[in-house]
Amino acid sequence: MAGNWKMYKTASETTEFFEKFRPLVEKSDHADIVICPPFTNLAAAVAAAKGSRIEIGAQNVFWAKEGAYTGEVSGPMLTALGIQWVIIGHSERRQYFGETDETVLKRTQAALEYGLKPIVCVGEHLQEREAGKTEAVLEAQFAGGIAKLSAEQFAKIVIAYEPVWAIGTGRTATPEIAEEAHRFLRSRAEAVYGKAAADAVRILYGGSVKPDNVKNLMAQPDIDGVLVGGASLDPASFGKIVNF
Ligand code: 13P
Repeated sequence: MAGNWKMYKTASETTEFFEKFRPLVEKSDHADIVICPPFTNLAAAVAAAKGSRIEIGAQNVFWAKEGAYTGEVSGPMLTALGIQWVIIGHSERRQYFGETDETVLKRTQAALEYGLKPIVCVGEHLQEREAGKTEAVLEAQFAGGIAKLSAEQFAKIVIAYEPVWAIGTGRTATPEIAEEAHRFLRSRAEAVYGKAAADAVRILYGGSVKPDNVKNLMAQPDIDGVLVGGASLDPASFGKIVNF
């Protein structure tokens, strides 16, 4: 159960969130719990989550270890802070910052090399869905951004299916629509890495997940977890989602 805070909250707001959130998930050992705040709040989040079951993730990582890359942050910089996870290839990165399947692959390989656990995002736009191209888009994103990983690397990633039309719109994919996409992604994983690896990979759903729809989404056989934007900013609502 992962929260993507996007570009919300200051460091002190992060500390406040954890004070309220920690007690709500103290006994929630049915799931891994990950919160991904902006870079500026990572240290505060690690400190505030210390001694709890909550793990902290970043929202991006560059592929080089260090160098003249103004504005970028590397894997070793994140792990030195105690960061364990990283979101890669979110649709907002693809849409506004020129992220491609190729850069997604490079970032994912670097994340793995430096000991971070990547949550690799895929998902179609509304026009693509309406044109009947959902599977073709997912297939291309999987082939370009994921399928070039070795089997050993693939075993360490989490995939997030986030239909772009469902992000921040209040328009959740129905559990059936989400399940269909998850099943398709798992079939791609099986074709490349075999059944055992496909069964084992965790595929998260993201896009307007709320406390009142999480249960039906999680009831689908191929939905293993959720990646939550807006509803992860409030401790009570993310607590309800984690404890669905
Ligand atoms: P919302 O939950 O706000 O729709 O955002 C989903 C998302 O993009 C998570 O990465």
